[in-house]
Amino acid sequence: MKNPSLLILAGDGIGPEVMAEVRRIIDWYGANRAMAFDVFEDLVGGAAYDAHGTPLTDDTMAKAQSVDAVLLGAVGGPKYDDLDFSIKPERGLLRLRKEMDLFSNLRPAQCFDALADFSSLKRDIVAGLDIMIVRELTSGVYFGEPRGIFQEGNERVGINTQRYTTSEIIRVARSAFELARRRDSRVCSMEKANVMESGVLWREEVQKLRDAEYPDIELTHMYADAGAMQLCRWPKQFDVIVTDNLFGDILSDTAAMLTGSLGMLPSASLGAPMASGMPKALYEPVHGSAPDIAGQGKANPIACILSFAMALRYSFDQGEEADRLEQAVERALGNGARTPDLMGEEGGTPLTTSGMGDAILAELTASLA
Ligand code: NAD
Ligand code: IPM
Ligand code: MN
Repeated sequence: MKNPSLLILAGDGIGPEVMAEVRRIIDWYGANRAMAFDVFEDLVGGAAYDAHGTPLTDDTMAKAQSVDAVLLGAVGGPKYDDLDFSIKPERGLLRLRKEMDLFSNLRPAQCFDALADFSSLKRDIVAGLDIMIVRELTSGVYFGEPRGIFQEGNERVGINTQRYTTSEIIRVARSAFELARRRDSRVCSMEKANVMESGVLWREEVQKLRDAEYPDIELTHMYADAGAMQLCRWPKQFDVIVTDNLFGDILSDTAAMLTGSLGMLPSASLGAPMASGMPKALYEPVHGSAPDIAGQGKANPIACILSFAMALRYSFDQGEEADRLEQAVERALGNGARTPDLMGEEGGTPLTTSGMGDAILAELTASLA
């Protein structure tokens, strides 16, 4: 049988640093679990711009379409701030999401017990937290037309358009309901139906789908601003949150801080099923290229490693191996493994990025005993 294929796009800043640790984990699975992957590597973001003058070549786009899953590190950095909008590193990532039609972005926020005292919120608010934010990823204000910067008389105007169709809302809501069925059967949908027509449509369509096909799911609705407040006040009230592209971006960074660090949050971006039956998919940490710490061995590789665990679960039907990897991360943290972003007042000596990789690999190996 053919090996499953992976395209690695490490990108910029800390992207290659955290991805190097994922490469070691992939090799561990090949050597110890007879799970060999055909791994291809290519450039994205600023790295692709430096080499080819574009943040994503057509050739890389075609490769991404042909593999079983894409793993992405991070894109962007101050070096590219002045580039024209159309060739900024972030456009490479947005093109991948759009052309692969990865409409459902799963951003789980779990608080590992070892980090519960480290969150900026009190332990009892975050301990045991396990929520799933489902962010719509291919539409909304990120892609709506008209958009641009225009001259109107003496004024310049910047325009972006929030636009959603019923089918775009229904397909992402469906993925949230399906996930909820395998969790605690509760979905909270967030929009701003009080001020946005797209929010009214969102609320109506999500409710209609629930009533027609998911009567077993408890559905609630919340305005996204109140949702942000509730995420900080009592996050454990949520099971699955479904929301649009922009609100999902902001709410998932908020949720990141419940887990202790942005360096902890993985994500899976899923599209329609391929011939194999598995969804088209791209896996990436929620964090960015972290220019402030790039090149210093300080980056936490856990978000990227947990993104690979999501790939094992959602693209390769290896739920038990995903559990093994997540438990290895949890045990490493339990033993006190900390990158600088996970160090509190208590001090101590932090691990480097590869030191954290070592700690997780050691736990993976221990799991075989
Ligand atoms: P960022 O996520 O890169 O960094 C925010 C803060 O979190 C920084 O202080 C950083 O040091 C810290 N941080 C992030 N990841 C970390 C990790 N793994 N370990 C330890 N600390 C970590 O966000 P930003 O600074 O707003 O953006 C920097 C660049 O990244 C921008 O160009 C932005 O567009 C891009 N970005 C890319 C992605 C992506 O590729 N998916 C996501 C977000 C931002
Ligand atoms: C994310 C990032 C991206 C987004 C950027 C880099 C395009 O912030 O994945 O959360 O806004 O979606
Ligand atoms: Mn973001």
